Amino acid sequence: MSDPKSFFLSKPVHEYLVAHGAPPDEVQQWLIQETLAKVPDLSMMQISPEQGAFMTLLARLIQAKHAIEIGTFTGYSSLAIAYGLESDGHLLCCDVSEEWTAIAREGWERAGMTDRIELQIAPALETLQALPKDALIDLAFIDADKQNYAAYYEELIIRMRTNGVILVDNVLWSGTVADPSVADADTNAIREFNDMVAADARVDASMIPLGDGLTLLRKR
Ligand SMILES: C[S@@+](CC[C@H](N)C(=O)[O-])C[C@H]1O[C@@H](n2cnc3c(N)ncnc32)[C@H](O)[C@@H]1O
Repeated sequence: MSDPKSFFLSKPVHEYLVAHGAPPDEVQQWLIQETLAKVPDLSMMQISPEQGAFMTLLARLIQAKHAIEIGTFTGYSSLAIAYGLESDGHLLCCDVSEEWTAIAREGWERAGMTDRIELQIAPALETLQALPKDALIDLAFIDADKQNYAAYYEELIIRMRTNGVILVDNVLWSGTVADPSVADADTNAIREFNDMVAADARVDASMIPLGDGLTLLRKR
């Protein structure tokens, strides 16, 4: 094994990287501040600006029209996906929190994106199971309760178009996945999920050290 070339970012390197890769626009900056002010204890659940920029670019690259997000929180990732969709694109957001997604809704309004985003307040597994089996999703993002990751994946993979991409967040779980002394239920669920997709012949997988670890899965 070669030595690591990626590393956990220092503050100055992070600032440099964000400034040179599509920094957050006014609405995204507002979302960061609003989340810090209203949900200070859980604001770290929000994806990072560089991950948002990456997701917008990826959505554009694959010309995504039909997208789905599992775990919306206050809306940063949903806005990043929505920005990258085709102009007649549609993003279905799944969450169980009216309170947190109220902030997301305000962000979508401010960004002029309400016409392309739909929110379902319900357990995401129910929302997914109710989707048609021939949904042909271009882009999916999994970022909700970790112990359901595998179940979300199974519902999504049969509904993705060929070459569609599933993004999965928190796959490194602060590095604990590689620490055998950690064995709580969430860490174990993420480990099992990572093992499963790495061996799944239905997808090409790439795990990248962006944010808390992001896996890209291309449906074959
Ligand atoms: C890590 S946060 C998502 C962060 C968001 N992607 C962002 O960038 O701001 C996880 C979200 O999943 C939602 N969630 C948890 N369990 C869920 C479930 N069973 N169905 C749908 N959403 C769920 C939570 O309410 C929370 O908003």
